[in-house]
Amino acid sequence: MPAPRIKSPQLLVAESGADREGHGLKRTMGLFQLICFGVGAIVGTGIFVGLSDSVAQAGPAVVVSFILAALTCVFTAFSFAELGGAIPVSGSSYSFAYAGLGESTAFLVGWCLLLEYGISISAVAVGWSQYVNELLHSLTGWQLPAALSAGPGDGGVVNLPAVIVIAMASLLLVRGVRESARATAAMAAVKLVILLAFCAIGYSAFKDGNLTPFSPAGLGGIGAGTTAAFFSYIGFDAITTAGEEAKNPRRHIPVAILVCMGLVTLLYCAVALAAIGAIGGDQVAGRPAALSYVVNEVTGSAVGGGVIAFGAVVAIASVVLAVMYGQTRILMSMSRDGLIPRVFEKVSPRTSTPVAGTLIVAVVFAVPAAFASLDAVMNLCTIGTLAIMAVVNIVVIALRRREPGLDRSFRVPLYPVAPLLGVGFCLYLMYETGWQTWLQFAVFLVVGLLVYGAYGRRHSTLARPAAQAAPAAEVTPAAEVTPADAEPESQAV
Ligand code: ALA
Repeated sequence: MPAPRIKSPQLLVAESGADREGHGLKRTMGLFQLICFGVGAIVGTGIFVGLSDSVAQAGPAVVVSFILAALTCVFTAFSFAELGGAIPVSGSSYSFAYAGLGESTAFLVGWCLLLEYGISISAVAVGWSQYVNELLHSLTGWQLPAALSAGPGDGGVVNLPAVIVIAMASLLLVRGVRESARATAAMAAVKLVILLAFCAIGYSAFKDGNLTPFSPAGLGGIGAGTTAAFFSYIGFDAITTAGEEAKNPRRHIPVAILVCMGLVTLLYCAVALAAIGAIGGDQVAGRPAALSYVVNEVTGSAVGGGVIAFGAVVAIASVVLAVMYGQTRILMSMSRDGLIPRVFEKVSPRTSTPVAGTLIVAVVFAVPAAFASLDAVMNLCTIGTLAIMAVVNIVVIALRRREPGLDRSFRVPLYPVAPLLGVGFCLYLMYETGWQTWLQFAVFLVVGLLVYGAYGRRHSTLARPAAQAAPAAEVTPAAEVTPADAEPESQAV
């Protein structure tokens, strides 16, 4: 059996140019900007829309579900923090897997990132359309009919607003409008203000009795609620994609990840308690645009709900933009490594953006946004993300063994218990997603393996003669690359 093709952490950093002044991306992000970036990428559809699904499963015990989902993420966040500090490049979990477990696993992680980022573009866009309708309703008294604002799985025909927000985000990205640090901070502030205002309104009408029975569906309900709540935390790892733009990635990335997780968990628990305490779990469960509904009920007017809807529309749109940006960046990394066609790394000389890659991503993920149900896309996104997180925990263990001397600015506490618990929690939540999601995921992975076998393995930069001839300082030891698999570079995409 051939040795796995591995890129050492040193090679990954050297290739990115991240350790060279004046090379690669600009280092502009301090700790505060990284935290804002994290909050910007995390808080979106999960709390504004998904809360009503989690409450439907767990009732008031959804708070426990949020804490369990956070715990799953925290163990993995430790691992992301260790790897993000040790290998500060923009490929995130894909690059970590390349260093720890080799190319084929890295390809599958990159493939699953299509679920975490790509499918979450679709899921977040579907969530956006609920609040657009709510906003239209509160402004004009009219809203789009279900046929035009939901896919067949949710009782409609085509979800037009979801397609529109993806189209708008792709046009912005193509034109070169990147979220600057200031814009990201502003977006994060809008979300925080809206959600804190929501909490204030909810707590003004809080009734203890609304929290009983606390756990109507027992432990099973809490477990299912945890899987549903997990979606709201997806995105914390996006902080590690800023490894090449952070001023001091080795110190700030670990801190930013852990601070974000703490802040967001407190916020989610506060919002859930405010919503349920104000009108009761039964009223929140399964309700579209639930946060607006709560505010309308408490204030007795549609104005407050309209303001919440406006905030949600702005906040969720920014998540679409952020995840689409992340997706195109990861595809660029994979394309540079030769694992997917070169079209994804092509940057337009006019706009300095990956125009073709962005448009392909927009078209591909607009399809599930238009036609799939929110639950289906959320579950796929959840299972793919959990699989990536499990791998990242394993990478920490693999790299501690293979590269004990690697410069680690942050070390996972309670090693190896914490990463092993991280793997355990991820597998449990994956199990909870149900067999249909597993089936879809299995098909997705098989297709990924076929694509890797048919394309990625043969076109990988590590399969090129140059990769083997390069100086030892820049390339992994020869024993870790498989020269026998080398093929002359032939494609010109
Ligand atoms: N966590 C992100 C959201 O809730 C994906 O929208």
